[in-house]
Amino acid sequence: MSVEIEPLHAKQDQFAARVTGINIATDVCEEVASQIERALDKYAVLVFPNQRINDDQQYRFSTLFGPMETASGDIGSQSERRLSMNVNDISNLDTDGQVLERNDRARLFGLGNMLWHSDSSFKSTPAKYSLLSARVIPEHGGNTEFADMRSAWDSLAPELQRECMNLTCEHSQIYSRGKLGFEDFTEEERAKWKPVLQRLVRRHPNTGRLSLYLSSHIGAIVDLPVPEARLFISDLTEHATRPANVYTHSWRKWDLVMWDNRVTMHRARRYDHTSKRDLHRTTVSDCGPTLNQPL
Ligand code: OGA
Ligand code: MN
Repeated sequence: MSVEIEPLHAKQDQFAARVTGINIATDVCEEVASQIERALDKYAVLVFPNQRINDDQQYRFSTLFGPMETASGDIGSQSERRLSMNVNDISNLDTDGQVLERNDRARLFGLGNMLWHSDSSFKSTPAKYSLLSARVIPEHGGNTEFADMRSAWDSLAPELQRECMNLTCEHSQIYSRGKLGFEDFTEEERAKWKPVLQRLVRRHPNTGRLSLYLSSHIGAIVDLPVPEARLFISDLTEHATRPANVYTHSWRKWDLVMWDNRVTMHRARRYDHTSKRDLHRTTVSDCGPTLNQPL
């Protein structure tokens, strides 16, 4: 096995890389996992082209990296799910594999993925890694963009860094969807997704680097007036997602993209709503709430 790692970003050679020489379906071992983890510490986003995997293979590979999340952040009941609770359904399809109606609730909820976010920042223990496998890709559009939150931190003015340092944010899916005017939540969902607290600045346990922990799920900062908090988050997001700081992934069928949610944000881009787009995500949990992690 000869593993090759090749940077993908035009201006930044430490963000996003293509990995070849690994077969996700068969190379399920600790040695490969630690090699990948080291590459993620450096590049934060890894693209594995040509990985023809099913959900079981994807899940099994993902378990090499830590405890797994369930898809409890998806909307809708368990009985009408298209995929198992081990896999997040990142598609615009119904249980018959047909494109959802334009007004479908799950579709409108899913549009939240088009806002910059870090996965599961709305859970008290958020996501460490996400692994996203492309099964059906539309002909046009539907790219995924990734922003490097380590360089977002490094390039922040020192006085802004000082201001951010000890702030705590409230994250909820109710906030991110509210930004799109989506308010159609049941009482049960409102209870399940009530805001959780996360640090605004965090330190990566392996590299020791600081990064900004932003997400569209943020709706408030502890001890700040809400409009001021939201403006501040919006300014920081604008800074973090400047084009030079972003890698754009243009999907091919059977790409698997893996990223470190602790140091990146991502968003999906628009595509024709009548075209099928089907990606399956498995998600590895972080070790606990960010407030319990040393800064
Ligand atoms: C995700 C996600 C973006 C996309 O899978 O977590 O936000 O492009 N996906 O589908
Ligand atoms: Mn996501």
